[in-house]
Amino acid sequence: MNNLVKRGASKQFEEGAEALPLDHVAIIMDGNRRWARERLLPRAAGHQAGVKSLKRLVRYVGERSLKYLTVYAFSSENWQRKEEEVSYLLKLFSDVLDDEFAELAENKVRLRFIGDLERMPAKLKNSMLESMENSRENTGLNLQVAINYGSRLELTQAARAIAMDVKRGLVDPESIDENMLSRYLYTADLPDPELLIRTGGEMRLSNYLLWQSAYTEFYVTSTLWPDFKPEDFDLAVSEFSHRNRRYGGD
Ligand code: IPE
Ligand code: IPE
Ligand code: MG
Repeated sequence: MNNLVKRGASKQFEEGAEALPLDHVAIIMDGNRRWARERLLPRAAGHQAGVKSLKRLVRYVGERSLKYLTVYAFSSENWQRKEEEVSYLLKLFSDVLDDEFAELAENKVRLRFIGDLERMPAKLKNSMLESMENSRENTGLNLQVAINYGSRLELTQAARAIAMDVKRGLVDPESIDENMLSRYLYTADLPDPELLIRTGGEMRLSNYLLWQSAYTEFYVTSTLWPDFKPEDFDLAVSEFSHRNRRYGGD
């Protein structure tokens, strides 16, 4: 958390004198439909409220100079939901990207999509590729949005890509190590997250960042994603700052 502590304005960030380094926070943004159900609203309203919550958090962590934020927006298993909900979500992603990209760029956010983009509708896929290209020089927050993301899919595709490179004579099988495998993942250029927050109370990874979170600290809150506020983020960071990270050592 050095960056946040040194540059952050929030009291909670400053309190932990011996704060742990924190550059990369990953979030499983869960609980949109429960939020809507509690209010007798349609699911769509829950997803819209989820977008608002994400905008609020991106602004907040950007102001505090967090380096990397990686959020789970749609898993490779979420296609199993009703067609109506899936279509709604795809339309929502497309609208949000159209409406918000200019502000993100203004705030120097570098946007990346991680996941298998091939299954995305062509127009959305092109907008995603374009927004990644157009923000690649931005020096502010690195925002990764996981869409059609699944760790098993990611690792399977990496295994296939390595095998192809071995076949082409570009890779010596003896040289395959953890670093090389990491470079074949969607997250190739990113450090592993130090902290993973899950809203909505479920105690599982749901196929998110399995490889990358080998030694990540988990924080689960029952707060539903649309209700997740900067104060809740601060609370997670504050709890993280008291964790004892041992990495299997003493
Ligand atoms: C997370 O909220 C958003 C997506 C998975 C797209 P959910 O839609 O899973 O909402 P709950 O967990 O059913 O309340
Ligand atoms: C995980 O939430 C995926 C996203 C938040 C995008 P899910 O709601 O799909 O996970 P499960 O089904 O509760 O494991
Ligand atoms: Mg859910």
